[in-house]
Amino acid sequence: MSESQEPIAIEALLKEKRVFHPPKELVEQSNIKQWMDAHGIKDYEELREKAKNIEWFWSEVAKEVVEWYEPYQKVLEWNEPFSKWFVGAKYNIVHDSLDKHVKTYRKNKVAYIFEGEPGDVRKLTYYDLYVEVNKLANALKQIGVKKGDRVGIYLPMIPELPIAALACAKIGAVHSVVFSGFSAGGLAQRLEDSEAKVLITCDGFFRRGEVVPLKEQADEAISKCPNVKTVIVYKRVGREVPWNTERDRWWHELTAGQPAVCETEKLDSEDLLYILYTSGTTGKPKGVMTAHGGYAVGTAITLKWVFDIKDTDIYWCTADIGWVTGHSYIVYAPLILGATSIMYEGAPDWPEPDRWWQIVEKYGVTILYTAPTAIRMHMRFGEKWANKHDLSTLRLLGSVGETINPEAWMWYYIHIGKQKCPIMDTWWQTETGSFVISPVPLTPLKPGTPTKPLPGFSAGVFDDSGKLLQGVGGDLYLLSPWPSMLRGLYKDLDRYKRTYWSKIPHQYLTGDKARVDEDGYIWVQGRADDILKVAGHRIGNYEIESALVSHPKVSEAVVIGKPHQIKGESIVAFVVLREGVTPSEELRAELREHVANQMGKIARPDELWFVKDVPKTRSGKIMRRVVRAKVLGEPLGDLSTLRNPEAVDEIAYAV
Ligand code: PRX
Repeated sequence: MSESQEPIAIEALLKEKRVFHPPKELVEQSNIKQWMDAHGIKDYEELREKAKNIEWFWSEVAKEVVEWYEPYQKVLEWNEPFSKWFVGAKYNIVHDSLDKHVKTYRKNKVAYIFEGEPGDVRKLTYYDLYVEVNKLANALKQIGVKKGDRVGIYLPMIPELPIAALACAKIGAVHSVVFSGFSAGGLAQRLEDSEAKVLITCDGFFRRGEVVPLKEQADEAISKCPNVKTVIVYKRVGREVPWNTERDRWWHELTAGQPAVCETEKLDSEDLLYILYTSGTTGKPKGVMTAHGGYAVGTAITLKWVFDIKDTDIYWCTADIGWVTGHSYIVYAPLILGATSIMYEGAPDWPEPDRWWQIVEKYGVTILYTAPTAIRMHMRFGEKWANKHDLSTLRLLGSVGETINPEAWMWYYIHIGKQKCPIMDTWWQTETGSFVISPVPLTPLKPGTPTKPLPGFSAGVFDDSGKLLQGVGGDLYLLSPWPSMLRGLYKDLDRYKRTYWSKIPHQYLTGDKARVDEDGYIWVQGRADDILKVAGHRIGNYEIESALVSHPKVSEAVVIGKPHQIKGESIVAFVVLREGVTPSEELRAELREHVANQMGKIARPDELWFVKDVPKTRSGKIMRRVVRAKVLGEPLGDLSTLRNPEAVDEIAYAV
């Protein structure tokens, strides 16, 4: 087929509204089918039905994936909106991730194949990982880290990131990973809120052929966080870094003399594993709390079933561990299942746009899990880059982070999966910890929908009055508790109740809009609240607005998302300057840079416009809804509550 004909093939396939069935062989040999056979369950819908008895279901699947030190007395204690799972069990997720494997044939199996951007490769077996984790865990104890203490981790995609997380978990400390793309401001905010006493970072990392310095960012953040007493620095690139001899310790020196064995702390199943900050609708990120036992069960079984992980697989999730996808599906679940994973440090198109396809070919990747924004970027480069490589080892593909548009789905299916790999479009959130709505390798697929809730989960779309909707859009809710769910927001349980549990009684508000079709498939329509999804990253509008108004020349700011072909959404800011300040190109650049410095490059506005005023209600609340409608040329809706309707024209004038 020539290149010029291919777009037509995609369009034609989409027009047919085809349902895509997974290959028979995959179905027959799938982990989930084998589990169903062993349990006398004939078809998937029967399993979903039976799994409505969530206590039966989760206790049954827990046996598949975890080993308790001491058994639990109760599967679930539901004290709405707080859940406890596997109550009374003694447990540590590190036992399942490492300790149990080093007693089996997996001891010498590769856990991570790491490829650095410059091309350096490290293969760490389960035993290698076990030893590294033990040494760091002993070192952490030596510097006084105790059970329950919070440890910040600010590392790029290198094996030391999972090692650091596991070392914390091993001794019962709570890790809080901060995405290495965040700048000092974002890091400081999170370190301060979590009251971390140690930070683990590195000298820098490689991105697009350049060295990105990290230690300097860490230093700047810590200057605002007196709670951080020790900084452990891993040498990734070997550059000169500023050094505070009172506070800073080299990773290699600290771990050098440590014993290779460290006893894993026997925790309570409900003890905290990590805090991961995610954007909400205010300027303050939410500290999502996760517990050891339920999280282990929820993430491991969903990965085992959805991506059908087998011992022979080479699994590659391209996410960054700084976000939840990496926590759940690069660190914990693959390790619990004893999988071999790829970890890649750098940019997908470096030095050429076929870097990913080169990696797939080189290591014989069988499962590739990525995000729509990356797929659209590769689509723009063109399939010629993928066609240079043998991708025939692939058997399953995945997508996460935002709705995958059917065109991107088809391109991925045809040009990467060669029409034989089903696409697992997984819907979930930082708060859910694990997949919630997703196909399994038995599910007939429709491009653009994550299909239905997995067994053990239930979801529904409701209107504001609590009426269940079918065929029309409404709010997406989850209807019963699940093991990997958040245990609340760190130091803010009221916000937890308000944000997720107050709109309709007894149901978890996801913040997404969705529609259920005639087959019960859920079509996710995007966020209902003021949260942006930029290249799959979740950023609160308010956070960017706060960063803008923290600049001395800015009086007010409003930020909205505008559809973008590759990134999903681009960031558009409208800024009101202080009295006497004159707008200029230099100031525009300065303000965009200011946001990047405050929050990280991912939050830098793509467009920034100066306006004299922004639309506000009589009570002074900025009307983002109206600004968005004006920019997108949509109906403006009810403007009667506006104090300054003329500001709407200002917006039009600016754009
Ligand atoms: O809007 C949904 C979108 O991402 C949000 C969660 O973002 P975050 O907590 O950063 O976690 C992302 C990785 C799990 C959701 O509220 N989202 C995630 N997956 C999908 C999705 N939207 C549509 N389809 C998906 N598969």
